[in-house]
Amino acid sequence: MHADLILSTTGQLVTCRSGASPKKGAAMSDVGIVSRGAVAIKDGKIVGVGPADAILPEFDSNESISFGDHVICPAFVDPHTHIVFAGDRLDEFEMKIRGTEYLDILKSGGGINSTVKETRAAKFSSLVAESNLRLDKMIEYGTATAEIKTGYGLDTATELTMLSVIETLDEISHADLVPTLLAAHAIPREFRDRPDAYVDLVCSDILPKAWAWYGGSRFAASGVPFFIDVFCEKNAFDLKQTKRIISGASKFGFAIKAHVDEFTNLGGSTFAIQIGAVSIDHLDAISDEEIDLLSKSKTVGVVTPTVNFNLGSCDFAPARKMIDHGCAIAMSTDYNPGSAPCPSQQMTMAIACRYQRLLPAEALNAATINAAWAIGLGERTGSIEIGKNADLLVLDCKDYRQAAFEFGGNLVSSRFKNGKSIETK
Ligand code: NIG
Ligand code: FE
Repeated sequence: MHADLILSTTGQLVTCRSGASPKKGAAMSDVGIVSRGAVAIKDGKIVGVGPADAILPEFDSNESISFGDHVICPAFVDPHTHIVFAGDRLDEFEMKIRGTEYLDILKSGGGINSTVKETRAAKFSSLVAESNLRLDKMIEYGTATAEIKTGYGLDTATELTMLSVIETLDEISHADLVPTLLAAHAIPREFRDRPDAYVDLVCSDILPKAWAWYGGSRFAASGVPFFIDVFCEKNAFDLKQTKRIISGASKFGFAIKAHVDEFTNLGGSTFAIQIGAVSIDHLDAISDEEIDLLSKSKTVGVVTPTVNFNLGSCDFAPARKMIDHGCAIAMSTDYNPGSAPCPSQQMTMAIACRYQRLLPAEALNAATINAAWAIGLGERTGSIEIGKNADLLVLDCKDYRQAAFEFGGNLVSSRFKNGKSIETK
């Protein structure tokens, strides 16, 4: 058979293969290693994977690259980011160091709302340029597919602008993106005393206009889902408001995500799982009953240990317990200007292994294949399996566990997106 390109290693080819669903529980500790492996690529897709001894004679190819004994693995998928924003929150970083809590900054009108002020005032072109620099960093650290949320507009016009920025980034960058509408990220300042009126605006104006935008977007054209998300939390949206927004969105056809249990358990996980959310995210305060519900559902639990690290908190989501109970867990950088200024899934893995007691294999599956399922793209990317996009990394190490062991650096030495080599700046 013919291939455009064959990549091979005399070391580990790590497939993270999962078949037709995310990896749950004990399956998360298997990364599907093929030693002395090779992958054959044609038209951007994987057409063969296995021991090099079998793949090399099977395919005649235009080009063949051997990476010595370095690890070949799937490119990272980052299933939860907020990288479209303007300005910075460095003053708040100092306030937090001095002891002010994240939720107290939010309550006093800072936090998310201070980024909203700057984002509303920013030009489209500078939002694109600044966000693209952040995306470039993510790509440099090995991410090939990412979800990006709105949520720093909090009015109809700016939320729609943010969606257009995400679409432009999808067009101009090397990454494949998935858009999420997070108009319910915070109560905007002008609605401070009448939060339900803001929920009315979201339901009656932002949702229908955002859905109409999606219909004409490149995402709908290529079958990429459009997600709704709500920050269900004290000083943000309560459970009743969360239900209104998510139920309203699901009638249009949005796929569902929810920020739940980041600090406070308001019952958001139970609701989101029951309504069929693709993912529930954060989960620091999830209950044992909800872990049980999650394990029996198709929903993926996305943990964001970068937030705890950044806030200097040890109240991590109980990811170990969730995996031991049979849940499917993914992880994300949650890259954002406040709670997690982190572009690197390698760093997320490093934190998760130390503080949430995940094994490197569980962390790698959580940052690749399960992350792909968490954004509705599990059939397209996240693992080295026949038929999937050839989204691959070469790591500058002999053992994949090094990627979770080392931190603060970057082990990615080559990146392939849809079978094409990506040069970073
Ligand atoms: O995932 N929790 C809400 N949203 C983000 C924080 C965004 C911000 O602080 O700007 C999060 O932690
Ligand atoms: Fe978030």
